Amino acid sequence: MIAMTSPAPHRRTAVSARAQRLPGGKLAELFALARERGAIDLAVGVPGAPRTPEPLVEEAVRALRAGANQYDLPQGRVEVRNRIAESFATPADPDTELTITVGATEALCVALFSLVDPGDEVIVLDPYYENFLGAVELAGAQPRFVRLLEPEAACGPGWRIDQEALTAAFGPATRAILLNTPSNPTGQSLSTEDFELIAALCERWDVIVISDEVYANLVFDDQQHLSAADVPALRDRSVVIGSLSKSHAVSGWRLGFLRARPGLTSVFRRVHEITTNGASAPLQLAAGFTDLFDASVLTAAKELAAARNTMADLLSRMGLSFRVPQGGCFILADIRSVTDEPCEAYVRRVLEESSVLLAPGTPFFADKQRGSNYVRVAFNRSPQVLTAARRQLTH
Ligand SMILES: Cc1ncc(COP(=O)(O)O)c(C=O)c1O
Repeated sequence: MIAMTSPAPHRRTAVSARAQRLPGGKLAELFALARERGAIDLAVGVPGAPRTPEPLVEEAVRALRAGANQYDLPQGRVEVRNRIAESFATPADPDTELTITVGATEALCVALFSLVDPGDEVIVLDPYYENFLGAVELAGAQPRFVRLLEPEAACGPGWRIDQEALTAAFGPATRAILLNTPSNPTGQSLSTEDFELIAALCERWDVIVISDEVYANLVFDDQQHLSAADVPALRDRSVVIGSLSKSHAVSGWRLGFLRARPGLTSVFRRVHEITTNGASAPLQLAAGFTDLFDASVLTAAKELAAARNTMADLLSRMGLSFRVPQGGCFILADIRSVTDEPCEAYVRRVLEESSVLLAPGTPFFADKQRGSNYVRVAFNRSPQVLTAARRQLTH
């Protein structure tokens, strides 16, 4: 007779504690309402501009027709690794220092799964890209938030690192610091001085930098993107995450990458074989055969600089205060000058009155009270959508 053992008495739920702790899902109701009303969506980052470059689409069709429909090298096609490496100011070896991932989203998970152990602390500058929290959580680590100082005036310095708070956040439990430059949601880039401070602290505590630079090719006003990989003191302790999603308006293709020194890259590739075993083969080929960073193909910064100006003008007319973004595709606007409602109520009212959806600020802040003072507005939209949004928001 087979003895039946009863289930473990402590197991009350079918899902892991990690999964249960994941944030998210809170905006679903708002999105459903916006869809129902046919509202203009300025909440999510799905690119409405620039247009997907025609040569990329043509190469994708060609690759599919040529039969590139099966598994390929997990670390990514050499053609696309070479292309991406061409775009770096500080050279990287595409054979040993680059891995193609399923978007920056997988790259972030691979980096964290490879670098942190349960219980480790990961420093996160606050406000932050909301998926950072879920990824840190899935890796079993603890986020350690460092509040950025709020801009004092529209034209003074923007969101700034509080040097004392950052220094105090580092300690023996710190394994990594997660950066995002230019940032979603603030639109600000880290300066050389910021990186120098971070490098000194990382060296002192033997901590690695994971730098999400998906907006590297979306930097405005003739400024140059400064990558963690360009900072000599971080040469061996930086991991850079990138993506074609926004720069080339192919967010559905799911093409991203991880850049790191060879020793880390070989570990990342093993983890990446487990998480996805490679990004889409034909779409990698298409990207590899397209002159991705030629000015005729990479039009995003030029197009979005104009969209940013249009959106900044619109938000000023609405009476909101904000820092004009240096890069990326979002404006983080303070609503206190126009309302004393919390951001969710303001967003709901704007949706009802103007049929335009903005993103409430709360998901991007550790302190929900502070986040409640903000909305995030996406400006990677076509001129037609921006004109319609302006009409509806200023009627
Ligand atoms: C800062 C940041 N990182 C990563 C991503 C996701 O990029 P991907 O589409 O390459 O997964 C986004 C998308 O909005 C983002 O804003």
